[in-house]
Amino acid sequence: MAFNSSKKLPPGQQKLRLGILVSGRGSNLQALIDASKQNKMAASIAVVISNKADALAVKKAQDAILPTRVLSAVKGESLEDYEKKLIELLKKHHVDLVVLAGFMRLVGKNLLEAYPNRIINIHPSLLPKFPGLKAQKQALEAKATVSGCTVHFVDEGCDSGPIIMQKKVEVLKNDSAETLSERILAEEHQLLPKVIDLIAKNKVKIKGNKVTILD
Ligand code: GRF
Repeated sequence: MAFNSSKKLPPGQQKLRLGILVSGRGSNLQALIDASKQNKMAASIAVVISNKADALAVKKAQDAILPTRVLSAVKGESLEDYEKKLIELLKKHHVDLVVLAGFMRLVGKNLLEAYPNRIINIHPSLLPKFPGLKAQKQALEAKATVSGCTVHFVDEGCDSGPIIMQKKVEVLKNDSAETLSERILAEEHQLLPKVIDLIAKNKVKIKGNKVTILD
């Protein structure tokens, strides 16, 4: 499957257009902004969408003068209705690849069908170990000696989609959830732009559940 940009631009100027979904602090978003500015990623940020108006990520996107939208869930609204609006926004901005960068909402069937194998997520553990919330605390409680981070394609499960790439981080004897999170986060900031660059360069192939990275 090819990940060519859907926006009509002259050949040579086409970049993969990212729709970045956020809910919180936005340090991964910032890493993507920096990588894009430094031309370390053959992709451009088409839109940043937050489900939280007061997320620090919103400020980071605005400071970088990126198209920024807040799409809060309305009380009682179904996931299906929320995603209808989300898909509309993503399409309006000609998004090719959806990047979940600390987006704290489940992804439903509609979004998955609108972007098949075109939604990726970053998670702070070596999946399939420690999916879900507080992955770093889970690693400490399990007395893991190594943890890390994973970028994977999103499917209907919780952090369960096909793994694209991982980076290991050693768990130190005196680690707290905070110190471990900090070291994992530093690796996340390298891994996410790297994977997006590979996708943009068509080097990530997925067949069924199997991901292959081309050299
Ligand atoms: C990161 O640890 C990411 O792996 C997880 O949520 C956190 C988001 O952090 N999915 P930030 O908002 O990018 O700083």
